[in-house]
Amino acid sequence: MSIHKSVKRVTTHVLNEMKLKNEKIAMLTAYDYSMAKIVDEAGIDVILVGDSASNVMAGHETTVPITLENMIYHAQSVVRAVKRALIVVDLPFGTYQGNSKEALISAVRIMKETGAHAVKLEGGREICESVERILSAGIPVMGHLGLTPQSIHKFGTYVVRAKDENEANRLAEDAVLLQEKGVFAIVLEKIPATLAEQVTISLNIPTIGIGAGHAVDGQVLVLHDMLGITQEFSPRFLRRYHNLYQEIGGAVKSYINDVRSVDFPNEKEQY
Ligand code: KIV
Repeated sequence: MSIHKSVKRVTTHVLNEMKLKNEKIAMLTAYDYSMAKIVDEAGIDVILVGDSASNVMAGHETTVPITLENMIYHAQSVVRAVKRALIVVDLPFGTYQGNSKEALISAVRIMKETGAHAVKLEGGREICESVERILSAGIPVMGHLGLTPQSIHKFGTYVVRAKDENEANRLAEDAVLLQEKGVFAIVLEKIPATLAEQVTISLNIPTIGIGAGHAVDGQVLVLHDMLGITQEFSPRFLRRYHNLYQEIGGAVKSYINDVRSVDFPNEKEQY
């Protein structure tokens, strides 16, 4: 039997086994109870309480403004819904880059106040001290390399990263370094598929791609993007499985018509 079918609860060890057995890992974001319940019951392996909540839930242009308190609120809502998936929470911008002590305090707050299972940090060698310190407290860490949205003001744009040799080599070295420090998996965002494949082969831990081709160990998408709730974001790597923006809009229009025409509520819908 495949691993994902046999486990009752996904752990970091399960993800490692999945890589060993060449079984792909499916990961999606969720930020609230209702969506997390649907996604978990559908059988997702990993739920990321991503700081993309800053864009998707709060309407900010970047992930920079979201706070640790905001992330804790979203993670608490997700944890209440989930029975099977591994829950990973993004440490938001400014809560771990300054120094490793602050990073540990932020990660401990996430773990203690939400009941989530792991944290995710963006960056390579520059955050290794923070990664080590969090890991030394027994908190599992997921890495994130390539396009790291918290650094958008440094990058200037959301274009594909690591296309030139220097940046590609640096990314490949950072991936090995993060593995040596002890992260249990690494997200590779918007990098050439060939580089993602090379990094995936060089590591024992799983890689999870978003815009990184198919030769990684798993895929992640932002739930609201793949459901077509968000409309303004259409990168090449995004596959839309629905157009919920239109469907929800249509349902709301029907409701408005029914209220205005006094079709709703009917006799069966009253006491
Ligand atoms: O915040 C997020 O949703 C993420 C994914 C895009 C990987 O970090």
